[in-house]
Amino acid sequence: MAYAPFNLTGKVALVTGGNRGIGLGFAEALSQAGASVAIWGSSDKNNADAVKKLGGAVKAWTVNVADETQVAAAMVDVAKHFGRIDSVFANAGIGGGAKSFSEFPTDVYRRVLSVNLDGVFFTLREAAKHMVERAKGGDPGGSLVGIASLAAIEGAARNEAYAATKGAVISMMKSIAVEHARYGVRANSILPGWIATDMTQGAQDNPAFADKVIPRVPMRRWGEPKDFGGVAVYLTSDASSYHSGDSFVVDGGYSIF
Ligand code: NAI
Repeated sequence: MAYAPFNLTGKVALVTGGNRGIGLGFAEALSQAGASVAIWGSSDKNNADAVKKLGGAVKAWTVNVADETQVAAAMVDVAKHFGRIDSVFANAGIGGGAKSFSEFPTDVYRRVLSVNLDGVFFTLREAAKHMVERAKGGDPGGSLVGIASLAAIEGAARNEAYAATKGAVISMMKSIAVEHARYGVRANSILPGWIATDMTQGAQDNPAFADKVIPRVPMRRWGEPKDFGGVAVYLTSDASSYHSGDSFVVDGGYSIF
C-alpha cells in the first residue's frame, strides 16, 4: 500500500518558474502525486507548453515575480481559482555573471537581485499572508520553499550578485520558518547542484566542464529536473509537517566530495 501522505490529492501547489527546468520537475511530480498545480512563468508559450505536457489540474499564469503588484494579484487569483494554496516553490530565477567582480555592471547586479531576491521575497510574503489568514480561521499548515543554490555556500567566482541572492534566500527561509511555525507553516530552502537546464546550457556545451567538473560529482552525471520531484512531493505533503528551517542540498554529492 502506498504511504498515504505522499498522495497529494486535495493539495494545491504553486511553482514559480514552473514552465521549464527544475520548476517543471517540481510541477510534474506534484501533479503526478495528485496535487493541483499553479505555474507562474514569464513566457506565455512556455506556460502553454507546460500545461499541455502536464495535463490534469494544472493552470499557468504569466507573472513577472520582480513586480510586486503582479505577484500580489496573481497570488489572490491562484487562491481563488483552486480554493487554497498549500505549498509554494519560489523557484523563478536568472543567472547573470560578469568578467570580474571589479567590472561587475550595476545593471546586471540589479537585474539579478530583482528576480532572485525581490521575486522570492514578494512571492513568499504574499503566500504567507494567505497561509496565516487561513491558520487564523482554524486551518493551519503550509509549506514555503525558496530555491537557493550551491553558489550560496561555495565560492562562485564572477557571480557575486547571483551568489548573494542565493545566500539571502537561505537566511530568509530561516526567518520565515521561526516566525510562521505557530501557524503550522514551515519554510525550507533547496540548493541544487549542477543541473542540466537552459540556465546551464553554456556549461553543458563546454568540453572543459565535462572534463573537469562533472567527474567531481560523486554521482558522475548532471542532475536532471526529475531529480527534484521527490523533495517537492515531500515538502508539500504532511510527511514534512515537523521539518522546517532546513536546507536540502540536491547535488549528487558534489558539495561533500
Ligand atoms: P531555467 O532558466 O531553466 O528556468 C527558469 C524559470 O524561471 C523559467 O520558467 C522562467 O520563465 C522563470 N523566470 C525567470 N525570470 C522570471 C521572472 N522575472 N518572473 C517569472 N518567472 C521567471 O532555470 P533552472 O535551471 O530551472 O533554475 C531554476 C532555479 O534553480 C533558479 O532559481 C536557479 O537559480 C536555481 N538553480 C539552478 C541550478 C542549475 O544548475 N540549473 C543550480 C542551482 C540553482
